[in-house]
Amino acid sequence: MAATSANGTARASRFLIWGGEGWIAGHLKTLFESQGKEVHTTTIRMENREAVLAELERVQPSHVLNAAGCTGRPNVDWCEDNREATMRSNVIGTLNLADCCYIKGIHCTVFATGCIYKYDAAHPWDGPGYVETDPSNFDGSFYSMTKAHVEEIIKHYNNCLVLRLRMPVSDDLHPRNFVTKISKYERVVDIPNSNTILTDLLPASILLAEHGEVGIYNFTNPGAISHNEVLTLFRDIVRPGFTWKNFSLEEQAKVIKADRSNCKLDTTKLTTKLAEYGYEVPEIHDAYSQCFERMKAAGIQ
Ligand SMILES: NC(=O)c1ccc[n+]([C@@H]2O[C@H](COP(=O)([O-])OP(=O)(O)OC[C@H]3O[C@@H](n4cnc5c(N)ncnc54)[C@H](OP(=O)(O)O)[C@@H]3O)[C@@H](O)[C@H]2O)c1
Repeated sequence: MAATSANGTARASRFLIWGGEGWIAGHLKTLFESQGKEVHTTTIRMENREAVLAELERVQPSHVLNAAGCTGRPNVDWCEDNREATMRSNVIGTLNLADCCYIKGIHCTVFATGCIYKYDAAHPWDGPGYVETDPSNFDGSFYSMTKAHVEEIIKHYNNCLVLRLRMPVSDDLHPRNFVTKISKYERVVDIPNSNTILTDLLPASILLAEHGEVGIYNFTNPGAISHNEVLTLFRDIVRPGFTWKNFSLEEQAKVIKADRSNCKLDTTKLTTKLAEYGYEVPEIHDAYSQCFERMKAAGIQ
């Protein structure tokens, strides 16, 4: 969707980030600002239709980026016991915001999740990754279930771009960074997964949004990387001497309430689209090396 005013003339893009106090929202805002683009944030509750419509009316964005969502604290286990609150944000709220944007002719990018799949016989870790049209097959957590259901509906809105992130990684050791999490666990499983290095992918989200792209995209770096591979790179580049202990999926199941998704996503659709804009996303092992080198250069240990 092009940014046009009510009378059809082109106007400058104005970006509005929903969930303005969130972790990914903060990174996105900084990136927009570094690109010299007009960006606003809001913390209006997505499920409050009147307030959402009033906010869209007030800010008059050409693009909304929805980085709001209920992820649970300290983790998704929270969603198991707080189902109504989780639905109000992740289902009612996400759909309401998309719908309000639709009726106002605003492009809406949704920061969704790829944690809606699990490895199966047709998709082993060393086999083909899941493509965007594969039906979800992971409902082991209420969080993932809400996200998968919403995707099935929201994909029919012609103003929505749905980006499936997985295990996002920032260049710092913020508590929400996947690396920070697994480096602090007493024991960690060791399974290859698709991951999203934010420094590589957030610029791509802006590129896709401002070009009016719509539809679903697996939004990770190409390939899959295991926990031990991540932690080995972390030890070798960022924190010499770092050690960790592994445990099995069966042992992990005893200390978590909701199951966790493990899967590889196929990124062909994303990389092909981004190539049209001359943008490349590094393979996940290379991306981690570069990410940890940036951490090291910033003096982070
Ligand atoms: N971090 C990950 O591992 C990960 C992975 C894949 C996808 N994602 C998705 O990416 C999005 C952003 O994640 P994040 O890591 O940045 O999470 P975050 O730090 O928890 O930020 C989410 C923000 O959304 C707000 N929010 C929650 N429900 C809302 C509602 N109904 N209306 C308005 N705002 C609401 C929260 O505010 P309150 O705290 O006040 O509720 C919070 O500020 C989420 O949709 C998440 O599901 C995250």
